[in-house]
Amino acid sequence: MLKIAVLISGSGSNLQAIIDNIESGNLKCSIEAVISDKKDAYGIDRAKSKNIKTYVMDKKQYGTTISQEIFKILDGKVDLIVLAGFLSILQGEILLKFKNKIINIHPALIPCFCGAGMYGIKVHEKALEYGVKVSGCSVHFVDEGTDSGPIIIQKVVQVYGEDSAIELQKRVLQQEHIALPEAIKYISEGKIRIVGRKVIGI
Ligand code: GRF
Repeated sequence: MLKIAVLISGSGSNLQAIIDNIESGNLKCSIEAVISDKKDAYGIDRAKSKNIKTYVMDKKQYGTTISQEIFKILDGKVDLIVLAGFLSILQGEILLKFKNKIINIHPALIPCFCGAGMYGIKVHEKALEYGVKVSGCSVHFVDEGTDSGPIIIQKVVQVYGEDSAIELQKRVLQQEHIALPEAIKYISEGKIRIVGRKVIGI
């Protein structure tokens, strides 16, 4: 069975979607650890309520060593690392040893509205400012860049003229809760191959 770790920084609704899909039997994997870089992340409470091992590694305390500390915890313990609203940037050895074994969910259709500094409500504000007619979310492999690895799944939502950023965020989040478990399911079933920039097999 695929062993995963989920890294969070906030409410953990994407973590909850993974938990729900495991409990429903749709997703065959085990969450070995939930790691947060913020001590007050509600996602930690969600994990504890399911007796999932949790680690809080406050990025104020760890700074740039956080990647190496997370690597020490997860090396040899999990098959896949899932970034679900994790705001620290992973770098160094963890990216090498977990090459093509780290995925992230971004609340926009990459390559739009992504990259350094593009996270949270700001992504949706920029999409509305630009006047896009559709937006959505992307699940992708993590590489050395920011939101730049091969794309696994994208889900599209309509954008309406009167949308607020919060309304768009909620609509996209609903699709995130479908896309992330779906991507993990494909990986757990060995369906995914990466050829250059492309993810094939699904
Ligand atoms: C989601 O919108 C995700 O796309 C982004 O951060 C948010 C995390 O939300 N990376 P949650 O903590 O999973 O509720």
